[in-house]
Amino acid sequence: MAKITDIAHLFLKEHLKVGDTAIDATCGNGHDTLYLAKLVGQTGIVHAYDIQEQAIINSKELTKDFNNIIFHQTSHENIDINKIDAVIFNLGYLPNGDKQITTLLSSTKNAILNLIAKFETNKNMLIIIVVYPGHDEGYKEALWLDEYLTSLPTSFVTSKYQPINQHNSPYIYTVNKK
Ligand SMILES: C[S@@+](CC[C@H](N)C(=O)[O-])C[C@H]1O[C@@H](n2cnc3c(N)ncnc32)[C@H](O)[C@@H]1O
Repeated sequence: MAKITDIAHLFLKEHLKVGDTAIDATCGNGHDTLYLAKLVGQTGIVHAYDIQEQAIINSKELTKDFNNIIFHQTSHENIDINKIDAVIFNLGYLPNGDKQITTLLSSTKNAILNLIAKFETNKNMLIIIVVYPGHDEGYKEALWLDEYLTSLPTSFVTSKYQPINQHNSPYIYTVNKK
């Protein structure tokens, strides 16, 4: 059975075309950045964000054969890209890194609200959010996302893809416009 991140990749693969602009909002060790760079190809561009220098270093190393990636060592709250076709958030902490440095509800919320406003000019945008409710901050993020995304008007399509018999396992939200 595919892992939850593989399922997120399937959604990206179905949505993105060569030449598109994609954002990795939490590049971590670079696995999602690499996947996006392959999907958008030489004529596309990937913007990869992380607050940790180590994450940027790890991601640059993993993607060293690609020249279609721009790295931003800053919070995803500061995403300031005008044309966006897809964004992935893989929330939580850097695998094999400092577990104290994790995504936080306050910044996740700001980043998502900024992106929702960008649908005005990016009708084709797909947002994918992988949440990890098994740790305290992840649980808070999951609660807020559930409430906020459920409340969006029906001109948005917000979905949740979740294992139903597992305890606190990660799951996915997606947001797009009809
Ligand atoms: C689960 S990891 C991401 C895994 C990554 N996508 C991969 O494929 O390897 C979460 C990352 O979010 C980063 N992060 C935490 N807060 C952030 C913020 N406000 N903006 C951007 N990245 C953040 C962490 O430093 C960590 O590297």
